[in-house]
Amino acid sequence: MSTKWWHEAAVYQVYPRSFFDGNGDALGDLVGVHSKLHYLKSLGINAIWLSPFYPSPQHDSGYDVADPRGVDPMYGTLSDAHALIEKAHELDIKVMVDVVPNHVSIEHPWFAAALASRPGSVERRRFHFVDSGDEPPNNWVSMFGGPAWTRIREVDGSLGQWYLHVFDSSQPDLNWTNPEVAADWITTLRFWLDAGVDGFRVDVAHGLAKDMTYSDLPDPVGLTQALRFDLDDGSPEAASRRLLIENSGFFDRDELQEIYRTWREVLDSYPGDRMAVGEAWVPAHRAGRYVSPTSLHQIFGFDFLVVAWNAEIMQDTITRAIASVEVVGAFPTWALSNHDSPRVVTRLGGGEKGLARARALALVAHALPGSIYVYQGEELGLPDAPIADSDRQDPVFFRTAGSHKGRDGARVPLPWSGKQAPYGFTDSMNPTWLPQPSDWAELTVSAEQDQPRSTLSLYSHSLQLRAQFSGAVGFIESGDPAVMIYHRDEGIVIAVNTGAGEYLLPEFLRAAEVLLDSESVEASGDKTEVLPPDCARWFRIPT
Ligand code: NOJ
Repeated sequence: MSTKWWHEAAVYQVYPRSFFDGNGDALGDLVGVHSKLHYLKSLGINAIWLSPFYPSPQHDSGYDVADPRGVDPMYGTLSDAHALIEKAHELDIKVMVDVVPNHVSIEHPWFAAALASRPGSVERRRFHFVDSGDEPPNNWVSMFGGPAWTRIREVDGSLGQWYLHVFDSSQPDLNWTNPEVAADWITTLRFWLDAGVDGFRVDVAHGLAKDMTYSDLPDPVGLTQALRFDLDDGSPEAASRRLLIENSGFFDRDELQEIYRTWREVLDSYPGDRMAVGEAWVPAHRAGRYVSPTSLHQIFGFDFLVVAWNAEIMQDTITRAIASVEVVGAFPTWALSNHDSPRVVTRLGGGEKGLARARALALVAHALPGSIYVYQGEELGLPDAPIADSDRQDPVFFRTAGSHKGRDGARVPLPWSGKQAPYGFTDSMNPTWLPQPSDWAELTVSAEQDQPRSTLSLYSHSLQLRAQFSGAVGFIESGDPAVMIYHRDEGIVIAVNTGAGEYLLPEFLRAAEVLLDSESVEASGDKTEVLPPDCARWFRIPT
């Protein structure tokens, strides 16, 4: 099989609003990303994925798109986007943009036209508008809480039809059985391909097709819980909830494959290697459907967002994740965090322990075959920021009446330099859109750049070194259930200790060269006898 750039890339997720403010208005922007490309290059990044920067009222932080072929003035202009793509390519960094084809914003001209027209009109048929009297058409629940249907007022002021929104009511779902919708998305793909992007991250890739009979779901709340990171404790109940997704009313439907077949034709018709990665939350045995020569090129692997700090579970997770895409000859992908999940340091316990484990988990993931997706700030070892309820922005918080705090803690502007907020993120005196904690002075890019043992140093070592690894994963019996050991080709061995005590390394690893250590970063000759708890190490066996 030929090797494509995305097979084993290190992709950095830029969440533009919180990355870097290049124009002094306290909001991150495209000029800000442009100015930090050298930083990303030196980190060892092969590609960036830009979360949405399109015109949007920001009811869901840009995933409510009013014009998928534009740039919101808060992020800059189309020429800023072109300049960013060009500069990234000069540095040999690929550029992926996020597309959000499941829904649009209520401020998209199509939705305004739908509200201004009559039931059954061409304008309404771009969405899922249903007559249903005083009750919603079915029992579907929004992924953000509450019913998945909202009733509108017709032009004459009377209560009228209901429209479907699998997410916030500000994000009406598109009707993908309408050829006009499908054609418009091809125009959008072409627009960005013509602008030179190398790939797309497809938001809710498992969601575009719907059961057009709008039948009730057997367990609508269970379906929404199947995608809640905070509820996935690795239990059999959590695993069986995942199965509710399979070919359900609005997720993972077979009709999706025809949509992606047409997308693939467009992508393949462009010069260069263009790709699409699906954000498709499907059970492992369905993953292969989304990655084939007639579908998408890649699917996100989300297992490391939830994997327990337990060597046996980790090994099992890795085995299953690789197998789920291997059946179709695809490479797996790995992610420790993203803008929807708790930051990995926090998820693994917070504080020193959470940080040690997050660093060790990074070494486990970075040495695996496939692509690694790194969410901005992960390379600094940032924890979730504490956010007061009065500062929260996430619609999840509001739609669940505060019972689910939402994702804001992982979306706080990055700390670049200095001793206090805004830590070099902006020159503006205005507050940042989410407040930064007062104790991040040691976690800024400039503080960590000077620290050989910092998380930033660890990531820049591991992301550069991983490019040299090849071959399949083979597990080695460690003799301790708390220790997982695997190898790649060229004598590369990775060991992680998830237990409470030190692990006495087997003879062949005591003699091996230590390439990288999650605790000390740089290899130190006197530490090769034991592997401490919450630590991972990369070895090279002499040949
Ligand atoms: C997945 C995105 O990652 C998330 O941030 C967003 O809220 C939903 N899709 C809806 O677009």
